[in-house]
Amino acid sequence: MAVEERTGTRTAALEAERERWVARGVATQPVFVDRAHGARIVDVDGREYVDFVGGIGTLNGGHTPEAVVRAIHEQADRYLHQCYSVVQYEPYLEVCRRLCRIHPGDGPFKAMLVNSGAEAVENAVKIARHATGRQAVICFEQGFHGRTTLALTLTAKAMPYKRGFGPFAPEVYRAPGPWPYRGIGTREAIDGVRRLLRSQVDPSAVAAVIYEPVQGEGGFLPAPPGFIEELYGLCQEHGILYIDDEVQAGMCRTGPPAALDHVGISPDLAVWGKSLGGGLPLAAVTGRAEVMDAVHPGGLGGTFAGNPLSCVAAIVALDEVLDPAFQARATALGIRLRARLDDLATRVEAIGEVRGLGPMLALELVTDRVSKEPAAALTADVVRRAREAGLLLMAAGLYSNVLRVLVPLVARDEDVDEGLEILERCLVEATAAAA
Ligand SMILES: Cc1ncc(COP(=O)(O)O)c(C=O)c1O
Repeated sequence: MAVEERTGTRTAALEAERERWVARGVATQPVFVDRAHGARIVDVDGREYVDFVGGIGTLNGGHTPEAVVRAIHEQADRYLHQCYSVVQYEPYLEVCRRLCRIHPGDGPFKAMLVNSGAEAVENAVKIARHATGRQAVICFEQGFHGRTTLALTLTAKAMPYKRGFGPFAPEVYRAPGPWPYRGIGTREAIDGVRRLLRSQVDPSAVAAVIYEPVQGEGGFLPAPPGFIEELYGLCQEHGILYIDDEVQAGMCRTGPPAALDHVGISPDLAVWGKSLGGGLPLAAVTGRAEVMDAVHPGGLGGTFAGNPLSCVAAIVALDEVLDPAFQARATALGIRLRARLDDLATRVEAIGEVRGLGPMLALELVTDRVSKEPAAALTADVVRRAREAGLLLMAAGLYSNVLRVLVPLVARDEDVDEGLEILERCLVEATAAAA
């Protein structure tokens, strides 16, 4: 029975309250959490869900990890907030120290903390502009970099993110993003950047390029071989800074601490968020020390940026990410998930492509494999059926036809198995219903 139909339940009562009090633009699912641990959520009516969304990649370490919860409790007894622009505290320093270790390449690096991924993106652009004395920024189709005005300008999906929210920020130029399944490989994408640098903006005016090594919201599109290397080469040729957006793909989501570790280049700047805070809001910019230090004292900051509670949680999360055993566990999960999803694709015709990097994996659903027509309605139906059956899923992609798997990296085998069984059942049922 649909949650929406379960009249008389606590969920139904709270849904009515939500309709009354919460702005319609804040879209969500009809599930109210009572408690959560590991890869499981229990709702206010006692229903249990396997969580394949993990707060959209915010919970790589799982729900309520004991060490994070303990650190928060201990910190809460000492002090809650200071504002790092007023007085300092060690946890902020300790987070920056660890972040500089996960920034790909050899330092010296420096870091700064903020509240959200969008704020990290905005600050990275500010720093790049200040360091280069240039204004333009190049971003890519299928990119998602946040919802504040500059970050939203960089984001490449009109509905639901951009419609009605203009005017957008100036000096943002968008190149075609690589998407081999739909005909844009490394060559086409690099040619697109070269064309842009001839037709739309002179390279000498470009401060930075920003790119997600696996485009997340865009549909889990990993950079095809050679793309990042060539893009980085173009940046070096023209004195353009390379901003690596690790907000969704970082923190071991693809196996190693940074998704860019798969490529082996050292970005000038990187932005981090989501799982960095171990479940609390925290984001960061890291970068080459001389680039980060280009900005004058007082030019960067924010009232709650690097809140102490978030910092102590992040120390635990970062120690985990720096642990080779955790990285190996993430990689092993990726191998296991990939084999299972590839196998699923042999049985479910609607799966056009299984793709991703490490345990950051997704299924692109199509109405048929030849025309590759995106199957958005089918995708939405699978998400709904899965929820009813006890699995939380979330769609992604330009055409909203991609099912992404962001299960916490600490998920137990039985969580993954149960989730995949529900996923297969719902895919089969939804496909039959659509026929
Ligand atoms: C790659 C990427 N960058 C930036 C952001 C923005 O992060 P936030 O929602 O914390 O502002 C997101 C959020 O999904 C993201 O996936």
